[in-house]
Amino acid sequence: MKPVDLEPGDEEILAGEQGETKQEMLEILVALGTVFGADRLVPVTSVQVSGASYKTIGKYGLEWLEHLDARAVVPAILNPIGMPRGRWQEMGVEPDFAKKQQAVIAAYERLGIRLECTCTPYYLHAPEYGDHLAWSESSAVSYANSVIGARTNREGGPGALAAALIGKTPCYGFHLSQNRKPQVVIEVHGVGREASVAHYGALGYLAGKLAGNRTPLFCGIRPDRDRLKALGAAMAATGAVALYHVKGATPEARLVHFDTSGLEKIEVERQEIDRLFSEIHVDAVAVGCPHCSSGELKTADRLLRGKKVKKPFYIFAAQDVISRNRRTVDSIEKSGARVYADTCMVVSPVMERYTAIMVNSGKALSYVPGMCGAVARIGTIEECVEVASS
Ligand code: F3S
Repeated sequence: MKPVDLEPGDEEILAGEQGETKQEMLEILVALGTVFGADRLVPVTSVQVSGASYKTIGKYGLEWLEHLDARAVVPAILNPIGMPRGRWQEMGVEPDFAKKQQAVIAAYERLGIRLECTCTPYYLHAPEYGDHLAWSESSAVSYANSVIGARTNREGGPGALAAALIGKTPCYGFHLSQNRKPQVVIEVHGVGREASVAHYGALGYLAGKLAGNRTPLFCGIRPDRDRLKALGAAMAATGAVALYHVKGATPEARLVHFDTSGLEKIEVERQEIDRLFSEIHVDAVAVGCPHCSSGELKTADRLLRGKKVKKPFYIFAAQDVISRNRRTVDSIEKSGARVYADTCMVVSPVMERYTAIMVNSGKALSYVPGMCGAVARIGTIEECVEVASS
């Protein structure tokens, strides 16, 4: 295997002159780069670290974090954790879990990671086209690569943390232009402008299975950014799609000429998407996977105004987005729905108390059964509100 070229200063770090943690972190980056054939490390402008919920990292993950001793050198935030930090009692999180979750948070804070816990970091500090990043959460990676045109692989927790503490990541995969070309064409029929965020989530649910780990180029759809977010999140869940293009909508599909001759072409019909919208009796409703945008919070508020929910109705968003939409969130909560920051329906242990959960997300449709042990039903946000309030 070809060695990764290092810059002046890196040799010192590898020799342990800046402490054991930085030495360990650079060793991780060099090992990843060697395995994946990177010839160098590339500076990153931001990092998103997964492995933040105690539900997913457990005792050993916490012990590993607590032995580290260094500070992030680039802006770095966290993926959602297992509870809303300010409202965990209200959400029904067990005190023992909360204590362990707080220890995880404290460990990350000591490492200089900002305590912003979201899978939508682009609503807080949007990267620019062409920026190199080291992000972890699959929907955030998909959004950064596809909707913004930034460049990131899907980092594991240790690789992302190492990038935060060193400021670089191995330059391979989606950091290189030659790996960003479409590998399959997906022609969609019957999905017009009226198609909802949930329909795009359902399309992504199907398309992820069809594309597998290939980069698709979609034709026949004109989604806005909320719909692109839903499409990419679901494809990253049912497939391993970390980058996709949409003709006429995503930046590289507009700026780069892609030669699609010779690529497999797959057709998806509207009826296949509609078939996923089955009617199942649910005992809770959860939206905000990925975390809600300001526009999605406003839509939920408009639909819930004057209503009272009769089933638990969870809405998840980044704390920063909630703070910017305080009046909207207060208005939503008058209905009995709850808008929680920091966590989500998949990583919070609270959702395991339900047997069937309604969502408006293709990603949640895929993850809720395995992660929460509940049946999942997908519907539009209008249907979610209707089911919760009737
Ligand atoms: Fe985000 Fe949780 Fe969905 S991390 S993408 S809301 S599963």
